[in-house]
Amino acid sequence: MKAIVYTSHTGHTQRYAQLLAERTGVPAYSMKEAREKLRPKDEIFYMGWLMAGTVKGVQAAMDRYTIRGAAIVGVSPQGNGDLWTEARINGGYSDSGGRLFYLQGGYAPEKLGFFYRMMMKPMASSVIRQVEGKGDAATAQEREMAEVFRNGGDFVRREALDEIVQWFREGDHTGEVKAVPRVEF
Ligand SMILES: Cc1cc2nc3c(=O)[nH]c(=O)nc-3n(C[C@H](O)[C@H](O)[C@H](O)COP(=O)(O)O)c2cc1C
Repeated sequence: MKAIVYTSHTGHTQRYAQLLAERTGVPAYSMKEAREKLRPKDEIFYMGWLMAGTVKGVQAAMDRYTIRGAAIVGVSPQGNGDLWTEARINGGYSDSGGRLFYLQGGYAPEKLGFFYRMMMKPMASSVIRQVEGKGDAATAQEREMAEVFRNGGDFVRREALDEIVQWFREGDHTGEVKAVPRVEF
């Protein structure tokens, strides 16, 4: 693996990428840095944050590099979104055969740009309302999510990367996360 390449808006994915670089010895670059450091088609591990079910920057990374594996970083404790649905169906792989992982990042509303803050507002209010509506019936996890949407939260942990570090150690990987032409019917 030539490099870890990431896209991060409020820093959680960047911190995961830096921790992963420390643990594997593979350098981590933002997409912008990667343009100078890497060549087209180089083998990378991609890390991107989840926005409304899609992984930020993954399309551009697919177009330029060979993605052997990817980590999806979202606020939810469980994986979600388009690529994660593929991973669930294929036992941890994209439809095209690249390895996929999910990491819980966090939520830092104070760092969000105006546009993203406006996008999140209704989702955050709806989660808080639903949990409040459940009263005592709300689970500890649901309460935690409501709290995260109220005041922010940070779940980045070094140990969350254990499985990915193990996968790096397993050596050369041949699968690829790439667009698969679909037959519509
Ligand atoms: C507009 C918007 C949409 C989001 N959609 C999702 C989502 O669909 N699923 C999820 O788990 N997290 C979602 N999140 C939360 C981010 O993925 C989470 O905060 C992530 O840790 C951000 O990473 P970053 O700090 O590297 O930018 C969303 C956040 C924003 C601002």
